[in-house]
Amino acid sequence: MDGVIAPWTGSHNALNSYGDDHWERRAPIAAALTRRRVEAMTPVIESIVQDVLDGLDGVGAQRKVDLVQSYALFIPHEVITRLLGVPAEHLPAFSAAAAGLFDTSAGAEEMTRSMGAVLALLEQLVAGAREHPGDNLVGDLVRAADASGNPLSDAALRDQLMLIIAGTEATAHAIGTLLVHLLSHPDQLDLVTSGQVPMEDALTESLRLRPPIASVPLRFAAWQFEDVGSGEQFGEGEPILIHIAGADLHPERYEDPERFDVRREGGSRSLAFGYGPHVCPGAALATREIVIAVTRFLERYPHARLALAPEPLEQTASFISNGYTSIAVELS
Ligand code: HEM
Repeated sequence: MDGVIAPWTGSHNALNSYGDDHWERRAPIAAALTRRRVEAMTPVIESIVQDVLDGLDGVGAQRKVDLVQSYALFIPHEVITRLLGVPAEHLPAFSAAAAGLFDTSAGAEEMTRSMGAVLALLEQLVAGAREHPGDNLVGDLVRAADASGNPLSDAALRDQLMLIIAGTEATAHAIGTLLVHLLSHPDQLDLVTSGQVPMEDALTESLRLRPPIASVPLRFAAWQFEDVGSGEQFGEGEPILIHIAGADLHPERYEDPERFDVRREGGSRSLAFGYGPHVCPGAALATREIVIAVTRFLERYPHARLALAPEPLEQTASFISNGYTSIAVELS
């Protein structure tokens, strides 16, 4: 509870609840992330992406940028802060604290600090929404929970919002990773930019090959069972760490699993957004953001190339989040 997975095991939210309790916690969040909200957010996402691209146009003569810091991180953080109604001046602290939640190389003390910073900000948001529920996701959550006749406490609402922050980090990694996959595979890039393969399919393949959430801590066996593949026995209540990133590279499931192939069939069966009752309710929003961000980047900079081959790119110090911490790109 006080270690590096404390943000995931120490809070009571949809991710780590079960049965009716899970449903009660998940329903208001899923209701606030409907396709209608994603449609309503689309022009906002487009305008955020255009603004960030305009900012990139202003970089110096060398035309070299770090895609993570100057692009991939910016977009989901802007989207989510508008969705949640976070005041602009809180954005840098919010982003730093959110990244801290995933750093499984951090000490317990550092993790407690990151968690404290995120929780304090979320408490402010919940208090504001209780007083004046605005036309944003926090307002929706308060209204939906109240209307259900089973209103959530402030702490429960705050713990729920933490999952949305986690989704933001995952979206940023997905943008960076898809761009790395495409820029390092010119033949695959061609298939997408020529319109032969939809960007959504390239994303599905990129998520399979390198899912931004490598594992979800923790699951617990609801009853005693035997894993069919390995014959491993699990007793009721035993903790289980499911390694999504490994499962999606299984050679029995995918032919030549390490190959990036935007025309691969069956990629949507990947576990990148999870599976079953807990499957990610933010998947539609994340997909829309990633597709717009990567499509518009490639339209604006059709000659962009990686300044370093993918292999030496620095990766997240985490067994939960899976992405690059910096991606040097020459824009033209
Ligand atoms: C590429 C981006 C994203 C990825 C890869 C991702 C992945 C995941 C995964 C693997 C799970 C666990 C599912 C399971 O255990 O079966 C999950 C759950 C969840 N995600 Fe996402 N996510 C992303 C974006 C988002 C966004 C943008 C939001 C919200 C705005 C979000 C909100 C949630 C919530 C609330 C849950 C808990 C659902 C439950 O337990 O019922 N995610 N996500």
